[in-house]
Amino acid sequence: MSTPNKPLIQIKDVVIGIPHKRRPTLIIVDKANFDINYGEMVGIVGESGSGKTMICRTMIGTLERRGGKILSGEVIFEGQNLATASDATWKNLRGKSIGYVPQSALAGPNPVLTIEAQLTEALRNTGDTKNIKARSKELLDLVKIRRVDTVMKQYPYQLSGGMRQRVMIACALATSPKLLIADEPTTGLDVTVQSQIMDLLKEIRSTMGTAIVLISHDLALIDEVCDRVVVMHAGATVEVGSVKELEKPRHPYTIALNSSRIDIAKPGSELVTIKGNAPSVGEWNLGCRFAERCSIVQSDCKVGVHPELIGASGTHQSACIHTELLERI
Ligand SMILES: Nc1ncnc2c1ncn2[C@@H]1O[C@H](COP(=O)(O)OP(=O)(O)OP(=O)(O)O)[C@@H](O)[C@H]1O
Ligand code: SF4
Ligand SMILES: [Mg+2]
Repeated sequence: MSTPNKPLIQIKDVVIGIPHKRRPTLIIVDKANFDINYGEMVGIVGESGSGKTMICRTMIGTLERRGGKILSGEVIFEGQNLATASDATWKNLRGKSIGYVPQSALAGPNPVLTIEAQLTEALRNTGDTKNIKARSKELLDLVKIRRVDTVMKQYPYQLSGGMRQRVMIACALATSPKLLIADEPTTGLDVTVQSQIMDLLKEIRSTMGTAIVLISHDLALIDEVCDRVVVMHAGATVEVGSVKELEKPRHPYTIALNSSRIDIAKPGSELVTIKGNAPSVGEWNLGCRFAERCSIVQSDCKVGVHPELIGASGTHQSACIHTELLERI
């Protein structure tokens, strides 16, 4: 399916904080910037705590359920700024134009509802209550679940992890969303099932033209299925580029992530780990938040604010102010 090469959603300078009654607001994401085009598959990678899930929640309007708030910046979806959207606008969008498979979705389906009841609930969201049973079966077919009649009557505990994940994806697809956000959809699944879920996402994208955001710690998996990659570190977007462009990364953090990949390590060589830990939220240093871990850090990296992404949106962008030194790594 051909899709226009223009942004469906744009994350622009988003800052997310957790307000507190007695303490200053805790900033957990500062300088998130990336676009997702119509029909594109974009991977978001970064260590635990880098802000991947919180960024997703800005796109689905559920930040407040985790105590978060967009403090500044814009989330533009088809021309509309979701950062300031009303509850009524979100009611129209959430689960309709934008589908979400949450992190830990394996535990996700409501344990006391049959699969049929879960799909019914998702389909009612569309406002069209006709032929719900037939449409539920179609959704299970779409996510390649066999023995549909039996599965409809089952409860989540009766399904394998891979099947439960397929059900969650079916629920998210009930409204034929333009954007599907899948937050670590393969974590906890064995390698064969992981690859089946990835094949399913690829097929959904190519047959339905759905843009997909895939969050994962697995760079090999992102490389295999995505068009572009967004790299997050300590609440900031530090590099954005196509999978091809990121074969030659322009940020020391991405280079370090690549060096720690098992799939491309030379046989017999020692696996490289990334030096130190990302600074915790509330303890960010001045200047570049990667400075304490960076092998080419310079004195000017540690002053002022965290570097902006350099380069126009849609091109290979990096938030490193010393890319001229990258060949030393
Ligand atoms: N309610 C909260 N109060 C304080 N800190 C929070 C809260 N919610 C999230 N955080 C912090 O915000 C940061 C970003 O969280 P987020 O869940 O987006 O990380 P992530 O990149 O998705 O990590 P993971 O890979 O482990 O899922 C983390 O350091 C987290 O501890
Ligand atoms: S800005 Fe400086 S500290 Fe940050 S990644 Fe680039 S060289 Fe390293
Ligand atoms: Mg997460």
